[in-house]
Amino acid sequence: MPGTCVIGLQWGDEAKGKLVDLLTAEHEIVVRYLGGANAGHTVVTGGEQFKLHHIPSGILNPGVDNVIGPGVVVNPAVILQEIDGLEQRAISVDRLKISDRVHLVFPWHITEDHLTNARLVGGENIGTTLRGIGPCYRDKVGRTTAIRLGDLFRSDFAERVERIVEIKRQQLSAFDPDIAGQLDAPAIIDEYRGYARRLEPFACDTTPWLLDAVEADRAILFEGAQGSLLDIDHGTFPFVTSTNSSGVGVAAGAGVPFKAVGRMIGVAKAYTTRVGGGPFPTELEDAMGDRIRELGNEYGTTTGRPRRCGWFDAVAVRYAARLSGVDEIALMMLDVVSRLPEVRVCTKYRIGERETGDFPSHVDDLRQVEPVWESFAGWETDITGARVWDDLPLAAQRYIQRIAELVGRPVTRVSVGPDRVQTIDVPLERTALEAGG
Ligand code: IMP
Repeated sequence: MPGTCVIGLQWGDEAKGKLVDLLTAEHEIVVRYLGGANAGHTVVTGGEQFKLHHIPSGILNPGVDNVIGPGVVVNPAVILQEIDGLEQRAISVDRLKISDRVHLVFPWHITEDHLTNARLVGGENIGTTLRGIGPCYRDKVGRTTAIRLGDLFRSDFAERVERIVEIKRQQLSAFDPDIAGQLDAPAIIDEYRGYARRLEPFACDTTPWLLDAVEADRAILFEGAQGSLLDIDHGTFPFVTSTNSSGVGVAAGAGVPFKAVGRMIGVAKAYTTRVGGGPFPTELEDAMGDRIRELGNEYGTTTGRPRRCGWFDAVAVRYAARLSGVDEIALMMLDVVSRLPEVRVCTKYRIGERETGDFPSHVDDLRQVEPVWESFAGWETDITGARVWDDLPLAAQRYIQRIAELVGRPVTRVSVGPDRVQTIDVPLERTALEAGG
């Protein structure tokens, strides 16, 4: 049975964690394959809330194997806090495996992130999560100053850190000599040796293990992080993260063949949010944007930053769905727009006299577009108690079907609240595309 993948179709924070948690019941293995402590996956189960950064959401289901694949960058202090937090709440982490190929975030990466993030790109700050993600991936690609989890357990670890600290000191002194001088190799070696002792039971070469699982036809769920529009190659560069966070990155990050993914589920919110800098055509910089932020509690899981809010952008989501090879859509947080007097969707972009359904490759062009709106009278109903399609107001049903039509993919699930039970499976004949629009 080829695996299932859950991919964000916007700029992250699409509530993927909830969907992964729901799908975990049908899978034996959950794999996280990219990003690191920049991600914040919130899962609410049994009235309890869990916030995970590195560890796959499958950890909350006993009996499921959880894998952190080679494409992830791990901050050892943060992942150990996650492990401790889970154990304190009696959640076992025995079934967690971390690839010994993951790259490790070191203090200099976080320093570099702070120093470079302050520099403006085209007049605007990228607004990274300051977790050292970009600098760690930069070192991975550069190779000479990178350290992987497997290196922690080798006899030349200390020597390696000393050599890298020397290089980092030289590089950082160009920015700030005081900060460069604070890098203390012996202290870092001691600290990371402590982490090594605690992480050793989880570390292994997950690649052959996962390949065996693929060949044995085990049910695997790949848990995307961030969103397709933050993809380093296909997103709103340079206002992106440092990985292929769209569907194209799954095989590389997990270490499996493309054929291992048979079903791609795209996750989108019923509106749009973005954290950090970069163009956002449907952004609402007014009271309506504030209203959505409050109703949706749109504050970053990782950084607590208020998220920028706007209407659903069908041009952007359609692009992401096509790029990521999405088969079906899970539409999240419909309860939030259900409280509004009017709901809008951007159906096309207007550039001068021309209208287009294509998503521009350059952010300067994206900044110039004007959304073409389609407006819906709000249904202003509390739908958090809805459990089946027929519980939804007709206007909400039409909104869902119109989104499916515009994006060109069926909406098969709708979420009306944070809990597992607040989810509606859309009957096949109602998913718009099946219904012929
Ligand atoms: P970085 O991944 O920390 O380098 O941040 C780069 C950009 O991606 C910034 O705009 C971040 O706000 C955004 N970003 C990174 N991770 C997430 C996420 O999990 N959710 C939403 N935005 C994210």
